Parts: sequence; C-alpha cells; structure tokens
Amino acid sequence: MTVDLYSLNMEKGLHYEAIVTTLNEDGTPNAAPMGVICKGPDQVVLRLHEGSHTIANVKREKKFHINLSRDPLLFTHSLIGNPPATEFAEEKYGFSLKNAYASFFCEVHHEKKVEKEDAMGDNITIMFHSQVQDIKRNRKEYEPLSRAICGVLEALVNLSRVQRAPAEKKREYTDRLKEISRVVNHVGGPKHKEAMELIQKEFEIRIKG
Ligand SMILES: Cc1cc2nc3c(=O)[nH]c(=O)nc-3n(C[C@H](O)[C@H](O)[C@H](O)COP(=O)(O)O)c2cc1C
Repeated sequence: MTVDLYSLNMEKGLHYEAIVTTLNEDGTPNAAPMGVICKGPDQVVLRLHEGSHTIANVKREKKFHINLSRDPLLFTHSLIGNPPATEFAEEKYGFSLKNAYASFFCEVHHEKKVEKEDAMGDNITIMFHSQVQDIKRNRKEYEPLSRAICGVLEALVNLSRVQRAPAEKKREYTDRLKEISRVVNHVGGPKHKEAMELIQKEFEIRIKG
C-alpha cells in the first residue's frame, strides 16, 4: 500500500500537533504531545528538545509512531504522565494509540542539531527527518474543529514550558492560562473541562518548582 499523508488531509510544510509514541528501554510505551512537520507524502520531521523520554527513545531506537487525535484527555494524559495502559495498541514495532483517528509508523533517516537563542534563552533541538513506513486508519472522518481543543493544546504548551520560563515571565504564563481556561470552559464539553482542571492543578505544582 502506498503511504500518502495527503490522504489524511495533511499538507506539505505545515506543522501539526500529534501524540508521539515511543518505546522505553524497558519495553514499556511512552506517549507525549509533539509537533510534527509534514515534509512530503511520506516524510515528516520531529523537532525535539533535549531532556524528554521521547528524545532519548528516538535517539536510541530511530523509530516512533505518530498518532493523530483531537481527544483533549489523551493529549493531557500524554503530557502529565502517560495515558492508561489500555489506550495503547501493540504494533509489529512498539505501540500506537488505539483511539487515534490515524497512526503512522516512522523511521529516522537523518538527524540535525539546531542551536539558537529564543525568549527562553539558549535553545538546542534535534530535527529527526523520518520516513513514514505505514499508515493505520482507525476512523474515516475528522471531527469538526473546535476552539476548545486548541485551547487545551495551548494550555498544555504553556504547562510544558512554565518551569523553563524566567521568573519575570511566570506572571505571563499564569495570566495566559487564566484566559485559556475562560475560553475552554465557555466553549468546551466535559472532557475539555476535565483536561483544564488537570492542567490547572499541575500548573500550580510546576510554577512553584
Ligand atoms: C501541543 C504540544 C506540542 C509540543 N511539541 C513539542 C515538540 O515539538 N518538541 C518537543 O521537544 N516538545 C514538545 N512539547 C513538549 C513535550 O510534550 C513535553 O516536554 C513532554 O513532557 C515530553 O514528554 P516525555 O518526557 O514523555 O517525552 C509539546 C507539548 C505540547 C502540549
């Protein structure tokens, strides 16, 4: 079967938010929200910061699955720990996520270290250029877009960065989370609201750390 990311409505050059599943050294699965850049019908790039389980696993194994989802709780559980074991599906190599609308298996063919300075200081990332080997579609259709899932994603990015933020920026992170919570609670359903509660609790822990 030909691999064609465009058949999943992905476009060349665009950046998507997905959940990357990798294999830990002890054989257990790891899931984390990550940006994925579509570089062609069968090419993707992950841009990973040092320090995560995902980067350690991708460096060692050179393989991973990308899972496309709009489930706010799946994203939230993937950032704060891991989704429950029942959410993972065992694959020929590693694991995908059962409830993703599509998952694809990728192999790294080229790595490049990128160093630059941004608002958070020195920023070192590794770009993992990868070949998509296989696409598994669990569902035919995308769900309609909602501001609620975008809000949950922004709140999760805010959460994943708050510990690295300089002291004078922490107030900005708190204000941003407050505004996102307002929007999500206005437009979201029960899962979005539960995700925001989890994010809020974890944010209060991380901002002190
Ligand atoms: C929507 C979203 C996108 C993210 N994209 C990236 C990314 O592209 N690269 C990265 O290194 N971290 C990214 N992160 C942060 C990681 O998910 C976060 O560091 C996570 O804790 C890593 O988990 P792990 O240690 O299980 O790999 C993103 C977070 C969110 C919420």
